[in-house]
Amino acid sequence: MHSLLDTIRSQATFDKALQIFSHFTIILPPTLLLINAPYGRFTSKNVILGFGFNKTWSKFGWFSMEIVSPIMFATMLYVCRVPLTSGQWCMSALWFIHYTNRTFIYTYRVPSMAPIGFLTWIVAIGFNLVNAYINGYWVATHDDFRFDLATLVGGCVWCTGFISNIYHDSILFDLRKKSDGYSIPNGGLFKYVSCPNYFSECVEWIGFALVCRSAPSLWFALGTMSNLIPRAYKSHQWYKNRFKNYPSDRKAVIPFLL
Ligand SMILES: NC(=O)c1ccc[n+]([C@@H]2O[C@H](COP(=O)([O-])OP(=O)(O)OC[C@H]3O[C@@H](n4cnc5c(N)ncnc54)[C@H](OP(=O)(O)O)[C@@H]3O)[C@@H](O)[C@H]2O)c1
Repeated sequence: MHSLLDTIRSQATFDKALQIFSHFTIILPPTLLLINAPYGRFTSKNVILGFGFNKTWSKFGWFSMEIVSPIMFATMLYVCRVPLTSGQWCMSALWFIHYTNRTFIYTYRVPSMAPIGFLTWIVAIGFNLVNAYINGYWVATHDDFRFDLATLVGGCVWCTGFISNIYHDSILFDLRKKSDGYSIPNGGLFKYVSCPNYFSECVEWIGFALVCRSAPSLWFALGTMSNLIPRAYKSHQWYKNRFKNYPSDRKAVIPFLL
């Protein structure tokens, strides 16, 4: 037990995990442009990609892959350093607020979820585990955090992204409540992009990176973008193919740009 704790507390393990996460982030975009992650509108009928949590169990699949993040982050805070400074509490709060929503509230509120393939589930658990480890380790071992203008700006950016993500997820929930099929979403930033919930999630983690100014938080912001931008691009193509009347001036994920 002691040697396991020593291993996860060691700088060498952190460096290795950071390296793995950064490589993963780099290979994600080309992979996701080749293969659609098999969940949601891209749930696969393929025997291998489609094998996983069916519609009855998909909420459990989601919950179990997201809960890994707050548990791992809390573990790192516990095993690396107590007591925490106010700066460390502040960075941790952003993490736990996000994951309380994503793990518990989102899963409770979402009216239904399409099946989730085991492959997606395993990759998501790996992503969440390593990401929470490197971010938790960094926060737990940095008690020299200073509040300055970048903290304030980062906090505001994080907050805007967080609220906007929930708002746009809620628009999709309302559509899902009305019908089992897919319809054209409208309202808020849907006027400009097909996936404003993804755009907002990216904004949120850019805000977190501004607050922490650490390598793990920067890689997490990049990791989120490399995951969600290709998916948004594919979803945008999917909407355009599926709905002949799809607004032609709508972009995929970044208003007016992409
Ligand atoms: N940080 C990260 O790397 C990361 C990765 C993945 C997701 N996320 C976040 O997790 C949340 C959920 O992600 P997601 O990929 O599942 O989002 P999503 O594909 O937009 O789906 C969200 C919910 O809305 C429903 N829905 C989507 N489009 C719809 C439409 N046109 N008509 C009716 N219902 C529709 C979906 O139903 P179905 O399930 O039936 O499709 C699902 O219940 C988002 O806020 C996202 O930002 C973050």
